Amino acid sequence: MILYDQVFENNQRWVADKLRLQPEYFSELSSGQNPDILYIGCSDSRVTAEEMTGVEPGQMFVHRNIANLVPNNDLSSSSVIEYAVAHLKVKHIVVCGHYYCGGVKAAMQSADLGILNPWLRNIRDVYRLHKSELNAIADEGERYNRLIELNVEEQCINVIKMATWQKSFLTTGGPQVHGWIFDVHSGQLKDLQLDLEEKLSDIRSIYDLGTTNNI
Ligand code: CO
Repeated sequence: MILYDQVFENNQRWVADKLRLQPEYFSELSSGQNPDILYIGCSDSRVTAEEMTGVEPGQMFVHRNIANLVPNNDLSSSSVIEYAVAHLKVKHIVVCGHYYCGGVKAAMQSADLGILNPWLRNIRDVYRLHKSELNAIADEGERYNRLIELNVEEQCINVIKMATWQKSFLTTGGPQVHGWIFDVHSGQLKDLQLDLEEKLSDIRSIYDLGTTNNI
């Protein structure tokens, strides 16, 4: 049987398993969501947000796109962040990149990819911002991995540029923003330990939106 045909069978088995352990599982799930984490990751089929973190349905709000980007004028990721911060009141925002990312790889090459060009240009901009550090890395594989990490850092910075995050963070201290990397080769998840509070104080004079003038 090909994979597509198994999906509904898998679903029936999953429903039965859940109900066997907890007969009220789905009726409780339908009463609402209260996730603590907003996860922004890559669409790559090998990087499973829920499975690799072991979270259950209802615990993590998820947004995925090619190369885990948060572009300044992207309505989709901006709306997800707005909803997660202002309405769901998540405590953590994670931007998760991954080694072996095809999106980042494509942005390191001279190739015209049509409608993907403006999307991947966001990663070329990350390269330009960190050109001296990246060009000093002789090994291409290491340079590729470093660009993946720097892309996560820049997307975290794009989150903290947003009025909705600044307003929430400067009044309540949250949500905290974290940069993660998933290593497809080992299955390991690592925290880049980025200090976004320090980043904010560094760039606040540029990106301050006046929403928090009294703080
Ligand atoms: Co990717």
